[in-house]
Amino acid sequence: MERIRVRPGEPLSGTVRVSGAKNSVLKLMAASVLAEGTFVLQNVPRISDVEWMGDLLGAMGMNVQRRVDGAVQIDRPGTITPEAPYELVERMRASIVVLGPLLARCGEAKVALPGGDDFGPRPIDMHLRALEALGARFEVRHGFIEARADRLRGAQLLLEFPSVGATENAMMAAVLAEGTTVIDNAAREPEIADLAALLNRMGASVLGAGSSTITIEGVTELSATDHRVIPDRIEAATFLAVLGAAGGEITLEEARAEHMGMLVTKLGEMGMRISPEGDGLWAMVPGRLRSVDVATLPYPGVATDYKPLVVALLATAEGVGIVTENLFSGRFRYVDELVRMGADIRTEGHHAVVRGQAMLSGAPVRAHDIRAGAAMVVAGLRAEGETIIGEADHIARGYERFVEKLSGLGADIADVSEPPEEPVVAPV
Ligand code: EPU
Repeated sequence: MERIRVRPGEPLSGTVRVSGAKNSVLKLMAASVLAEGTFVLQNVPRISDVEWMGDLLGAMGMNVQRRVDGAVQIDRPGTITPEAPYELVERMRASIVVLGPLLARCGEAKVALPGGDDFGPRPIDMHLRALEALGARFEVRHGFIEARADRLRGAQLLLEFPSVGATENAMMAAVLAEGTTVIDNAAREPEIADLAALLNRMGASVLGAGSSTITIEGVTELSATDHRVIPDRIEAATFLAVLGAAGGEITLEEARAEHMGMLVTKLGEMGMRISPEGDGLWAMVPGRLRSVDVATLPYPGVATDYKPLVVALLATAEGVGIVTENLFSGRFRYVDELVRMGADIRTEGHHAVVRGQAMLSGAPVRAHDIRAGAAMVVAGLRAEGETIIGEADHIARGYERFVEKLSGLGADIADVSEPPEEPVVAPV
């Protein structure tokens, strides 16, 4: 999927099922480093990031395969190579979460240092400080972090900021440490609670995940287990944003309202009607949405991942909305693409002032990252003519069957990638 075409069309209708959460499954897969045996993960989305995490585990000597029943099976042998090569870490920053479990289980790790990305700098200082407090020693050589620890020891950790990745690395290291670890100012995202649920099924003792204080009693051994991944709240938010742009009425199976409370409140203020239904959510848009102000914050605030979707919605809402980014300084790059579509958006530092237009104007644009790509689709549904989104393979990193799911709801969206070139056959 390299190019997607979007056109405005009829209001949406129907039901769509939300897939398993990308930002949970990647960490659950990393946790399989911690115990020998066979893990079975259910509800794993078919997305590129999952394949890449599988490649990373494979490079360490583990066997990852998709079974016929759709589950992902991970076989972790007794001995693995505790290394994460540059080509894989560079492709997917989340690879850094193997550092904690490798240290805890193998006593050493060599992990390529991830660089910055389209969001701006992405430091990992908090990950390293937390692991150091647990007894790890680090050296940076030739672009790799070389880490060692004889046996990690439980410690009192206070995170400077509730970083998702640092909380996960610290948790996965502490489960096999000697004694008690307390992580204060921990990230509270639902994906952290999902990771704790898997670790506890493996025999760990993790208390308080989902709150700001997580307490972990170290154990000496863990065992492989089965687990079902929680639904993806960001995919659910994307369907709501698409509905906000196209209008209509849809049902999201398996969307958990309690995982996206603040966003649901904001969308409600904009005029969307959303309510729990069965094991999911029902939503409808009675008319043009109204602008609101939004600031991104760590969970339970409005997630930074929702922001491109919200900015795209505000671009055609009635009135002026101010959007403030508090997590990633560079996460406004897609704004230039929206402006090319006729959006009236002015950015100043970490703020964007969005003046809603009745309609945008379709244009060729680029998907800079997963969520920015989804935002282009939202904008394209309210843009006269057609919008062609290039570099749409970013979308496939995080969304399962994106085009099929949206066209199933009635959106005018199609994959218009060039077919792969025919192999040249030499004349006989
Ligand atoms: N930070 C530091 N030092 C660190 C770690 C983080 O300064 O050692 C800063 C970051 O620069 C940022 C803030 O802390 O300003 C928050 O970063 P966090 O560590 O919480 O983010 P992450 O773990 O790298 C995950 C998601 C992101 C999501 C953020 C914030 C995964 C794989 N990624 O990243 O999701 O935006 O949390 O909620 O879980 C996406 O899905 O497209 C995506 C980018």
